[in-house]
Amino acid sequence: MEVREWCQRILSADTLEEKLLDPEELSDLNPGPPLIWKEPVRPAGLGFQRRTRKEKLPPLCDHRHTDKRAICLHRFAGHELLAVEMMAHALLAFPNAPTNFRKGLIHTLKEEQEHVKLYCNRLKEMGVSFGDHPLYRHFWNHTPYIRSPLHYISVMSLTLEMANLDFAPLYGASFEKHGDIKSSELMATILNDEIRHVRFGWRWLQHYKKEELSTWQTWLQSLPPYLSPKRAVGFQLNEEPRIKAGVSTEWIEQLRLA
Ligand SMILES: [Fe+2]
Ligand SMILES: [Fe+2]
Repeated sequence: MEVREWCQRILSADTLEEKLLDPEELSDLNPGPPLIWKEPVRPAGLGFQRRTRKEKLPPLCDHRHTDKRAICLHRFAGHELLAVEMMAHALLAFPNAPTNFRKGLIHTLKEEQEHVKLYCNRLKEMGVSFGDHPLYRHFWNHTPYIRSPLHYISVMSLTLEMANLDFAPLYGASFEKHGDIKSSELMATILNDEIRHVRFGWRWLQHYKKEELSTWQTWLQSLPPYLSPKRAVGFQLNEEPRIKAGVSTEWIEQLRLA
């Protein structure tokens, strides 16, 4: 199957199986002309809902309750599905991106599909189905501003995925503290993968950076108007996973001050 067809199928899928389609053979010989996908089709029960006050995640102290932990995991599963769709969107929108960029992005998309599966499996063990809680559009709202591979890595890899370098270990530690080792191990797996996804963005940031600008300035200038640099950090900045992802200490310091 061609990557173009795969991504179109993901974005127009009305079943979760099709969203998570992982073809045995995938080729990228004919990426075709740029294709801008306005809105992903969603399977019944997984549609975007309006944000309400209920949107706030349960506080860490509530993690002693299984149903509250499940609400968190459900939200994270929703983020992963959005990541799948935004990566499919980028592959369709940037057919002329360098081959290695597309290869890396294809690999990352597959890992996001795996993340959705991991969360869904864990939720099932907790008696919850994907779709039992509301799902939101949030990350997708930034896609109209993602007009180049540089925009893509700035928004996805270096902001949304980077923030997960703080959130994943925070929630993982809290789940462990409340005796939920399985969910804690799941967060550790996610963290490891996200470190690689951030590394992908960091590497391509060096490639796309203009000579007269620093990597920091390049990133800032590539963010959509409503995405603050603060969104690249969780409640607390975790230096270690960023270092593992190859991010420079100088950049991390600038992020800390932002
Ligand atoms: Fe992920
Ligand atoms: Fe990721």
